[in-house]
Amino acid sequence: MTKIARAYTNIALIKYWGKKDKTYKIPYTDSLSLTLDRFYTDTKSEVINSDKDVVFLNNQELDDSKSLRIRNYLDTVRKMYSFDEHFQINSTNHVPTSAGFASSASGFAALAASINSTMNLDLSKKSLSILARNGSGSASRSIFGGFVQWHAGTNNDTSFAEPIDESPDIGIVLLSVVISKAEKSISSTTGMESSVKTSPFYSNWSTLVASELVEFKQAIANKDLQKIGEISEHNAMSMHALTLSANPPYTYFAPETIQILNIIKKLRNNGILAYATIDAGPNVKIICSKESVQKVKDFIEANITGISTVEAHIGRGIEYI
Ligand code: PMV
Repeated sequence: MTKIARAYTNIALIKYWGKKDKTYKIPYTDSLSLTLDRFYTDTKSEVINSDKDVVFLNNQELDDSKSLRIRNYLDTVRKMYSFDEHFQINSTNHVPTSAGFASSASGFAALAASINSTMNLDLSKKSLSILARNGSGSASRSIFGGFVQWHAGTNNDTSFAEPIDESPDIGIVLLSVVISKAEKSISSTTGMESSVKTSPFYSNWSTLVASELVEFKQAIANKDLQKIGEISEHNAMSMHALTLSANPPYTYFAPETIQILNIIKKLRNNGILAYATIDAGPNVKIICSKESVQKVKDFIEANITGISTVEAHIGRGIEYI
């Protein structure tokens, strides 16, 4: 029986922003993420008697233009592992698509794991992480649960993720504030390219990430959630500074994004643990503690109309069902 591969999405707390090598998606810096239990992708792949892959997303067949990225990825996989089979891919996304939550992370991690299972490749998790990275950089981290570090490396063999602590006892809760489910207007690939090429601050990014990584890992070891929050928020704001300082400048922020950032600051001033992180979209994810999450949720929902919040906890690595 063909198995379903399930991969959970992850949120980067030390962000990946910039590709050193576009073909293999080798980043300029390491990054560090938390895998979440709330959002995931289930993928099944079956060998078909055809020279073209067929892709279904949420039970709907994708047309040629929409399936192109996945079909190109499958070409890469075939080349890496020297086989010719084509597939029918059935993927179900339990992630708000393209709204700042990286559905590409769980999507490509699940796809890589699914091909691994269908073709009996018997890949180690390190090789699976490499394979997933070829689909989407952030997918390399979704192979593992808990806190995960993606080592930038220098080529296709040395750029992979590794777990730091798959089931940390830190009481971290991530509250996702969904402002918009719309497709983002600037893809992360385009955004990264523009920051790398034109932001005068990009040259400082590597130095910043290197020092924040050391501090972050110390904070995990010390179970210091406040420190984790502080570093995460600073890193996210620094990433977004690379978009605002690009030429021409751009931003992923919406008016509500700023509103929520201000509310978070207010909550903190009242002794409530809450720190923001934001990906390539307008939605804010709030790092909370088990004790603070309800207060943060109530306050946000009472103060901004028309938004919803979703609570996520620490998620596991790849699973076969
Ligand atoms: O892997 P991509 O192309 O979806 O890029 C992810 C970029 C960020 O989500 C903003 C940061 C990250 O490390 O996940």
